[in-house]
Amino acid sequence: MYDFSRGSFPRTRPRRQRRYEWSRRLVAESSLTPSDLIWPIFVHSDSGSQPIQSLPGVDRLGTDKIVDAAKRARDLGIPAIAVFPATPAELKTPDAAEATNPDNLVCRTVRQIKAAVGDSLGIICDVALDPYSSHGHDGIVRDGDVVNDETVDILAKQAVVQADAGCDIIAPSDMMDGRVGAIRDALESAGHINVQIMSYAAKYASAFYGPFREAVGSKGNLAGASKKTYQQSPEQADEALHEVALDLAEGADSVMVKPGMPYLDIVSNVKQTFGVPTFVYQVSGEYAMLSAAGQLGWLNRRDVAMESLLGFKRAGADGILTYFAPEAAQWLSE
Ligand code: PBG
Repeated sequence: MYDFSRGSFPRTRPRRQRRYEWSRRLVAESSLTPSDLIWPIFVHSDSGSQPIQSLPGVDRLGTDKIVDAAKRARDLGIPAIAVFPATPAELKTPDAAEATNPDNLVCRTVRQIKAAVGDSLGIICDVALDPYSSHGHDGIVRDGDVVNDETVDILAKQAVVQADAGCDIIAPSDMMDGRVGAIRDALESAGHINVQIMSYAAKYASAFYGPFREAVGSKGNLAGASKKTYQQSPEQADEALHEVALDLAEGADSVMVKPGMPYLDIVSNVKQTFGVPTFVYQVSGEYAMLSAAGQLGWLNRRDVAMESLLGFKRAGADGILTYFAPEAAQWLSE
């Protein structure tokens, strides 16, 4: 350390480069642009917007609102949206048959958006059974067990109906073993050789998914049951790398880590280890947490949102799924 008592001074003063705004910009290592954002959108089968209590500012969009939202995303420079369905309760069954209906809400929505905006906006669809199952699990349940291989067969069919509808990126969020390979094979066989797979590779059994489950209406169905037999335990870090390695070997084009803020170490490690397109999902509970503190006046909502998004970039993420996407893109243009 410098011995100031002898009249010496620090030669290195990191504060020099922080003094002016231009200088801070000049040395900035990370940046956030609208091209880094993916906007998750909830849709329902009637018209009009429905507020989601635990996601203030996020609505379930009706059939008359969807195209406007897609155009808004495109015009803001957001490259892609992710579509999630609030399936009517009467269509939910133990076998989640609606998931593979080529005319289900997601498929209808994808066709509607593609007809309006074509290839100027990417569309991502989740592959998992929870929005369609009467028990709220991501797979088929037999004797209390979420059965793997039978579920994978259904997921592969679900991916194909979504690709047939025009989905650009299939995003399996179910965490069954071997599903990426099965989906890749099914897409190839169906001629969808250019449809990408963005796998939820490292997806943790998280308490931060609560508001999402309200949004798609799976919370009541799940009735407190846990997804710990298929989603990863928060203790696990090496296991995330194993999951990513498997998904890449099975044909994933990009991988995702989820949730975001409590798992930045995983994002960083995945990006450094594999050097492939790495995405992160700032999930519903993270949005709810920042928004609630903002509503209470305890935090500045905009500032903490932007700081959290930059944090994902700094950790190495190539893109971020976030409910802040349209607002953040707007803020970036101001
Ligand atoms: C469905 C799915 C979930 C999320 C994305 N896809 C919920 C879950 O696994 O229970 C969560 C997203 C969020 O909380 O914003 N498998």
